[in-house]
Amino acid sequence: MLVTSKAILEASMQAYKAGKPFAIGAYNVNNMEQMQAIMKAARETQSPVIVQMSRGALKYAEDKYLRNIILAAAELNPEIPLAMHLDHGNSFETVKKAIDLGFTSVMIDGSLMEDSKTPSTFEYNVKITSEVVKYAHDHGVTVEGELGTLGGIEDGVGSGKEHLTNPEEAAEFVAKTGVDALAISIGTSHGAHKFKGEAKIAYNIIEECRKLLPNTYLVAHGSSSVPKELIDIINQYGGQLEHAAGVPFDVLQKAITCGINKINVDTDLRLAATAATRKFLAENPTKFDQRDYGAAAREGIANEIIAHMKAFGTAGHTTDVPNWGLDEMKAKYQGK
Ligand code: G3H
Ligand code: 13P
Ligand code: ZN
Repeated sequence: MLVTSKAILEASMQAYKAGKPFAIGAYNVNNMEQMQAIMKAARETQSPVIVQMSRGALKYAEDKYLRNIILAAAELNPEIPLAMHLDHGNSFETVKKAIDLGFTSVMIDGSLMEDSKTPSTFEYNVKITSEVVKYAHDHGVTVEGELGTLGGIEDGVGSGKEHLTNPEEAAEFVAKTGVDALAISIGTSHGAHKFKGEAKIAYNIIEECRKLLPNTYLVAHGSSSVPKELIDIINQYGGQLEHAAGVPFDVLQKAITCGINKINVDTDLRLAATAATRKFLAENPTKFDQRDYGAAAREGIANEIIAHMKAFGTAGHTTDVPNWGLDEMKAKYQGK
């Protein structure tokens, strides 16, 4: 069932308010096998799910192929609440295109300029985000904004400079823009190399934001766990990934108790697919059918996502999601 991400995130918010917090994983998708893996994991754990596409994904798979793969997943899995989300939208045009394609949720990352590299000003961020909120809400679409910048650079996304979110500024930002969800910078970063030593995130920033923004969904980007088992398999079968480090599940679980509602995961899917593919090809040197290693990758990704859905507490929550599609949300935003 295709719904807005607001519907799914509201289930997380209500659970937090009831003292039984859980978070929704938002998984990046670029092709059919990844999407099938995500839906297998959602079915097996009965989890609502947000799937998100970056601009790189929409370019790689050509946007209409990808859109129709997601629609097929919704059609084949009517019992799973599923939101189609744009990850790191960089301009009004990118967001408009996604909404015109049928996305039920968009991110406008106004923490960076349109080049997705240069940190922007607060005023620029408020202006671009407000424009997106107006257009998106007129169409019933959920909006995620971002305040503060993450460290690390992933495929050209990110300034490489970390600027943690100021909670008072976050409250002002939400009041001025009307965003539904806010990505906050708490010390994580995109990619497979997040920490030099121990994984440390700023729980106090989450708690402060949660206090000042009791009805805004809080989002943690750059939250892959980078499991050592996957790194070891990749390196055992010819890979060379050194000093990889992510955010362990227990750190994310504490972040959820502090008020995080949405957790973005991309790198872990990449690692799971690479580990399974390398292992399969090394153990089966005579095989060359793309379906064979594609299936191995799909299985590896599904297992990784099942672990995330259990760790984030998403498992078993499909029936807690209200049926808020685009039409219902359009009416709600219009105050009807
Ligand atoms: O935010 C970054 C995501 O991991 C997407 O990465 O732009 O390489 O698709 P990508
Ligand atoms: P990871 O690189 O930690 O998976 O983060 C993904 C992300 O934040 C996508 O927006
Ligand atoms: Zn991100």
